[in-house]
Amino acid sequence: VRVTLTDALATARDPDARLASTFRLQEFEAIARERMTPAAFDYVAGGAGDETSLGENVAAWRRRILRPRVLVDVSTVDSSATVLGSRVAMPLAIAPMASHGLAHPDAEVAVARAAATAGVPFTLSTMSTRSIEEVAAAAPDGIRWFQLYIQEDRGLARAFTERAAAAGYRAIVLTVDLPVLGIRERDRRRGFTLDVPLGNFAGRTEFAGRTDPKASATDGYAMVAGVREASLVWADIATIRGWTDLPLVLKGILTAEDARLAVDHGADAIVVSNHGARQLDRVAAPIDVVEEVVAAVDGRAEVWVDGGARRGIDLVVARALGASCVLIGRPILWALAAGGEAGVDRALAILREELEVALALVGAATLSGIARTHVG
Ligand SMILES: Cc1cc2nc3c(=O)[nH]c(=O)nc-3n(C[C@H](O)[C@H](O)[C@H](O)COP(=O)(O)O)c2cc1C
Repeated sequence: VRVTLTDALATARDPDARLASTFRLQEFEAIARERMTPAAFDYVAGGAGDETSLGENVAAWRRRILRPRVLVDVSTVDSSATVLGSRVAMPLAIAPMASHGLAHPDAEVAVARAAATAGVPFTLSTMSTRSIEEVAAAAPDGIRWFQLYIQEDRGLARAFTERAAAAGYRAIVLTVDLPVLGIRERDRRRGFTLDVPLGNFAGRTEFAGRTDPKASATDGYAMVAGVREASLVWADIATIRGWTDLPLVLKGILTAEDARLAVDHGADAIVVSNHGARQLDRVAAPIDVVEEVVAAVDGRAEVWVDGGARRGIDLVVARALGASCVLIGRPILWALAAGGEAGVDRALAILREELEVALALVGAATLSGIARTHVG
């Protein structure tokens, strides 16, 4: 195919044509950079401190070497899996991310719809642009989980879990790695404060007058009072467990010690995560500590992983090391910025194809056919 200059220009002007010529998740980032304000782009792209862990998160996956097996019947490849009791088209979920509205006006509604179409779970952040109820109405049949940031006022936090349960969300994902906000220099340089509408708080009488007087540009982000709860401890987990019958997922664990505690305190799943390297710099890439966590958990809970996964192959690596689900963050927001719901459709289709081809070529017709020996 000969691409003329005119074709190239037409592609640049037509977002859909541009999507059709996007073949890898990383390519959405360049489009997003053109479409988002520099401050919003850097808020999404950035990490903490020197961004050492940010680079490591991606690099660690790529250091893993596959050990393909041949002459296995892969005439039918099935990438489906069961995650927290739900059947999913592939062992992947959309990571909770604040304020999708920074990427596209359709925000979480578009991503939740695309996730439902692709048959993968969508996780709604406490700090979302659209509300728990709006997203549920937009993707009623999709598998939806709710990510909880605990409030200083526990009654308010409990109200969130109850709203999520009432709106058909299937799990509470409690984020445990944000007692305080990490030091994100890109945001400080840009003066970025996440001063954007928050769908779960807007117009709710329970939050009236609760805007945090301490929240300022120097504090980091203008947030509702107590949304970052620095005094949350293990003893609180039993209380939170008692608020809902939904499965409880603890997100942001990086050690065997905490994984054991998480299971002892009733977690149904653990997300091995360093918050996309946005919190503490110089921690391990999550994929590098998955095996330690899997050994500590010893089958008592599901172990998931996130941070830097960018290819369908990464899902095979995660599975071989014992993680049953991979959460994907930034590339989904880049795809949203690039093409709204259609952009996220495209990103998920790329991942699905990459996963299916990877399964066939490592010699596993299904995910349960992936063994530890498929990765060196
Ligand atoms: C822009 C942005 C906002 C985020 N907001 C949240 C959030 O509200 N709650 C949360 O638990 N994690 C949040 N995270 C972390 C993600 O859930 C996830 O752990 C991380 O992005 C995975 O790494 P990846 O972006 O390299 O895929 C956020 C990440 C990004 C990039």
